[in-house]
Amino acid sequence: MTTPLPSILLAGCGKMGSAMVQGWLAGGLAPSVVLDRHLSDLPAPHRVVRAVADIPAGFVPDVIVLAVKPQKADGVLAELAARYPQATVLSVMAGRTVASLEAAFAAGATATQPTIIRAMPNTPSLLGAGMCGLYAPLTATAEQKQHCDSLMRAVGETVWVERESLIDAVTGVSGSGPAYVFLLAELLEKAGQAQGLPAPVARTLAREVIYGAGRMLHELPTDAEELRRNVTSPGGTTAAALAVLMQPEAWPRITTDAVAAAVNRAGELAG
Ligand SMILES: NC(=O)c1ccc[n+]([C@@H]2O[C@H](COP(=O)([O-])OP(=O)(O)OC[C@H]3O[C@@H](n4cnc5c(N)ncnc54)[C@H](OP(=O)(O)O)[C@@H]3O)[C@@H](O)[C@H]2O)c1
Repeated sequence: MTTPLPSILLAGCGKMGSAMVQGWLAGGLAPSVVLDRHLSDLPAPHRVVRAVADIPAGFVPDVIVLAVKPQKADGVLAELAARYPQATVLSVMAGRTVASLEAAFAAGATATQPTIIRAMPNTPSLLGAGMCGLYAPLTATAEQKQHCDSLMRAVGETVWVERESLIDAVTGVSGSGPAYVFLLAELLEKAGQAQGLPAPVARTLAREVIYGAGRMLHELPTDAEELRRNVTSPGGTTAAALAVLMQPEAWPRITTDAVAAAVNRAGELAG
């Protein structure tokens, strides 16, 4: 029997929040409340509320999951601090540091002692195929970390990082990463069309090759580099393509620069 998931108050149920909620509902979330001004309903016993004031009296979540845009967090955190001064807060927001979230929390009430744990999930969580990096300060208890880990494991894989700054690196690789792969699908589709393939055929080829290669990476223990070598005959077609992609200024440089740009942006959001 699997352990039931903790109860949550999810603040913000947009793209990221709703991706996680679906996995949590399937995974047996304890009776929980979702705060979002646009969401209409959730299956009972879960509740949707439009404002902090509408959260049922007596409801005390095991974890408050914060999934609003970073610039909208302070107001909602200050309101929540008044209700739950000792809360365990799991923030999935890019950029916002533990210290800045503690300050926003403290602005809402005196004598608050929240524990802020940071997570960087991604949208494949929608299909239970998410990848999430987590960071907890030393003050977090084993139970608080376990609650947060179980929530994120319900929608994919988790890894814990030792330093908070590494959450920005997780953002650059896997948080923003699905968009890089979607761009690859778009570009492969266009390249196929440029070679004369009908659009629907190019689209199917591009999507399915990413799915198939992704499954190999996920399900086989083999390193990516070895998988690549295995499909690259010397002097063959794949070798010809890789000679273009692997030029130092091509994918090696572009990928490094793209991840660095995402990491820098996360730093800027931290302020
Ligand atoms: N999208 C991704 O792939 C991804 C990946 C990893 C992490 N994240 C993080 O996830 C967080 C949320 O991103 P998102 O793309 O899911 O944002 P989003 O689509 O804007 O979702 C946030 C939702 O919360 C609502 N909301 C905000 N403040 C509220 C309040 N005080 N009361 C009631 N509802 C409120 C918003 O409504 P309004 O629009 O009306 O404010 C919106 O519906 C961000 O911090 C981001 O860094 C996102």
